[in-house]
Amino acid sequence: MCGIVGYIGHRRALPLLLNGLKRLEYRGYDSAGIAIPHEGKLHIVKRAGTVAQLEALLSLTDFPATIGIGHTRWATHGEPIDRNAHPHVDSSGRIAIVHNGIIENYATLKAKLQQDGYTFHSDTDTEVLAVFIGALYEQYGNLELAVRTALSEVQGTFGLVVLSADHPDLLIAARRGSPIVIGIGENEYIVASDATAIVEYTRSVFYLTDDEMAILTRSGCRTKTIDDVPTSAQLLELEFDLERIEKGGFPHFMLKEIYEQPQTFRDAHRGRLLVQEGNVKLGGLRSVEKQLRQARRLILTGCGTSWHAALVGEYWIEELARIPVEVEYASELRYRNPVLYPDDIVIAISQSGETADTLAAVREAKLRGATVLGIVNVVGSSIARETHAGVYIHAGPEIGVASTKAFTSQLAVLMLLALYLGRMRHLSATQAQEIAAEMLRIPEKIRSILERSELIRDIACQYAHAQHFLYLGRGVNFPVALEGALKMKEISYIHAEGYPAAEMKHGPIALIDENMPVVVIVPRDELYEKVLSNVEEIRARRGKVIAIATEGDTEIEALANHVIPIPETLPLLTPILTVIPLQLLAYHAAVERGCNVDMPRNLAKSVTVE
Ligand code: AGP
Ligand code: GLU
Repeated sequence: MCGIVGYIGHRRALPLLLNGLKRLEYRGYDSAGIAIPHEGKLHIVKRAGTVAQLEALLSLTDFPATIGIGHTRWATHGEPIDRNAHPHVDSSGRIAIVHNGIIENYATLKAKLQQDGYTFHSDTDTEVLAVFIGALYEQYGNLELAVRTALSEVQGTFGLVVLSADHPDLLIAARRGSPIVIGIGENEYIVASDATAIVEYTRSVFYLTDDEMAILTRSGCRTKTIDDVPTSAQLLELEFDLERIEKGGFPHFMLKEIYEQPQTFRDAHRGRLLVQEGNVKLGGLRSVEKQLRQARRLILTGCGTSWHAALVGEYWIEELARIPVEVEYASELRYRNPVLYPDDIVIAISQSGETADTLAAVREAKLRGATVLGIVNVVGSSIARETHAGVYIHAGPEIGVASTKAFTSQLAVLMLLALYLGRMRHLSATQAQEIAAEMLRIPEKIRSILERSELIRDIACQYAHAQHFLYLGRGVNFPVALEGALKMKEISYIHAEGYPAAEMKHGPIALIDENMPVVVIVPRDELYEKVLSNVEEIRARRGKVIAIATEGDTEIEALANHVIPIPETLPLLTPILTVIPLQLLAYHAAVERGCNVDMPRNLAKSVTVE
């Protein structure tokens, strides 16, 4: 949620801040703003709208300062209007903060400050924190102490950066719950809510941990807890290149990421799939091998698309390893007083590794003594650090708010896990070899589906004005139906629902008439005939059928209004292929409707609040 960037060093801060905000805009895009010291005062320029609009506002300004902070917002408290945009300042206007997260006790703090005569100009929780820090600064005359004291009294979550006109050689950053990463250059530091704002300046970074703060000056950096205990930062090298966070000729990040999937799928299993031996090597799980061998139950958890990947994982692991698997929304797991045993394995799936609900589920499961693993994309993220062990999916930065390549890479890793657990139990080497060999052929098959983008675009354009879509699938493809529907609603704002195909007759069939497009995932597998009957039922009610079917299937061609063919593969592996046309269908429908594909309304890439 929200992008934060801060700079202290020897370059002009303004262009660097704006560039950083553009890189981070996918994290929040309600409003944007910057604070920069100039001639002894802080200059705050902020407005509702995009970073480009902010940049236009700043086009005639030339601040030479080499320190500053910036923010793109995803509103939690207060509408996305100019006065609620960050940075927020204290009552003197000399201290500014940018904040990601929620100050839960803001109302109590605000009432107290109002009693003391302070006034407020926005509806945000963040302004309360800014004014609180300012009030403590008036009292102590020491900015670091004021920040520490304020943070020890607030409840909730924060990733924040503080700048003061009185201290043009000081930035203070702190975190609880919302990520803060600090890039180290030569006599310069870049603070950000994620590494995409940093990578073009330096690859050397460290992440703050919860309740940790960094005191940054041009000549050095200290870290400590907000209780004043010194800490030592663990340096990391960023692994991705600049080109991974640029559009590379594609009109949208989402389309670029859809097209990256042959490569990212391969990257997820590279070096891990031992085809000859019919086995899998997962270095990240070595330390928990014993627990995995003895596990009696697996609980997979996540949110949104990652939860859909978990549902596919459930089918795969139960089928290949014969271990019972439960899938829980992370947001439900954490508050449900779950029954967890010490020999349970909880696996958190998350692209960002920062989703607040998933992180909280990880903590809850650890507290109850389960072994907790992560399947995560962002290296060094909170979930990656807080789980006992895990496997990175190595999909590279995913910028499009609608998750695409992360999903197929999560599937790649879940299949590796199913094979790994299976081989520890009943799965034969021959069966594993057959699946492993087919996994190697998947990237080529994804590529051949991508070549059908034009066909999919034509279909999308025909139905782009529909008000509803229904998605149906069975078995391993039921979660894909859910994922297809999620993609459609997220970026095109068309209401869409996914169902197990056989459930249609228990209710949703009432919705079907000649205006209802129904996407049916119907590959040639053991349930093919059953799904075909569902297609007949839709046709009988004049619904429009868009079938995702196996190449060369003439039966479905005779029945459906449109067929999007996918190459043949093992029935278990079909979700990796069937999801690709659904991503493209949503993408083309959204473009046709003139929607902002990479930054859909009300959403943000990484949901770091509850
Ligand atoms: C996917 O398209 C969504 N934008 C969203 O549902 C996402 O999958 C969810 O918020 C979980 O994010 P994570 O994988 O980073 O934890
Ligand atoms: N809670 C703050 C607000 O609504 C911060 C939101 C954000 O993370 O962008 O302004």
